Amino acid sequence: MIRSIPVGAGAYLPEKILTNHELAKMVDTSDEWIVERTGIRQRRIAAAGQKTSDLAIGAAERALKHAGVDASEVDLIILATATPDRTFPATAARVQAHLGIKKGAAFDIQAVCSGFIYALATADNFIKAGQATTALVIGAETFSRILDWEDRSTCVLFGDGAGALVLQAGEGEGTTADQGVLQSYLRCDGSHEDLLYVDGGPSSTGTVGHLRMLGREVFRHAVTNIADAIQTSVDRAGIKVSDVDWFVPHQANRRILDATARRLHLDPEKVVITVEKHGNTSAASVPLALVEALEDGRIKRGDLVLMEAMGGGFTWGSALLRW
Ligand code: UT7
Repeated sequence: MIRSIPVGAGAYLPEKILTNHELAKMVDTSDEWIVERTGIRQRRIAAAGQKTSDLAIGAAERALKHAGVDASEVDLIILATATPDRTFPATAARVQAHLGIKKGAAFDIQAVCSGFIYALATADNFIKAGQATTALVIGAETFSRILDWEDRSTCVLFGDGAGALVLQAGEGEGTTADQGVLQSYLRCDGSHEDLLYVDGGPSSTGTVGHLRMLGREVFRHAVTNIADAIQTSVDRAGIKVSDVDWFVPHQANRRILDATARRLHLDPEKVVITVEKHGNTSAASVPLALVEALEDGRIKRGDLVLMEAMGGGFTWGSALLRW
């Protein structure tokens, strides 16, 4: 059977670091509160004029270089973002143009923090259906542009960044020993919109709006949905949670990751955590964490990697792959 094989990954972060101490000068908060409640110590902020597409292009170029794949081979770009450069065209189209690619398809996916998992599952299905051979899957965000910088309950949580993964069609036996994407699981429950949303949009207010969140309520759903995402992928693949080499979760809050690990009896040593450095970068957080664990040598060829996310919508999901 056709498998979508990961051949390279890359990340791109804006230069500017915003620390908790700096934030404490802007709103009524403290480094102690942010670290204790979230684990976040700093986040990156895009420079004036630096767009989501700029971060996405940086990540895509590094991913292609890491993969040893020329941009001309790419026939599918799926970019997950909730902070596109423009309402249209898709940010993916800008990335495609910058990379000089003229063939194939390019489009954005909007599933907020679960966007990278949605994009990865979609690309995998395109490849398995024979509709694409080389896909760039990107998560890229400039959440700093949709934050209410006077709302301490949200502005301390998010940051900017991008990560990208290159997938190529290859042959597999159809077993969990195959290299490539083995399983994906996507969910949405639109009934919780009022807990996490942006209060603007082209067809409602005609403005971009700001992020609004009832954090405590979202937290409760997050632990349940993430546990569901992990358990379902593992069950469908016919393996045990303990068979997974690395968990690469969406990075919203250290406490959510710890609570999920406790609930599913995950070995905390196997959970890749980057939230302290990047904050919550929405669709970029899973590929940013993936790249960090690849670069520091934790994830090696043949390792079983489970990625998961939960976010606005609510959306949630997971993807199991053998690197
Ligand atoms: O990526 C999409 C998914 N998003 C998430 O998964 C986020 C989920 N939620 C969370 O991570 C947490 O709920 C938060 C980090 C947002 C908040 O932590 P919490 O422990 O749930 O705090 P809380 O909202 O219950 O607020 C506790 C107190 C409140 O004060 P009172 O009412 O107890 O007097 C808040 O006003 O902390 C106060 N507070 C702050 N204090 C200092 C809220 N934000 C801040 C702040 N600094 N930045």
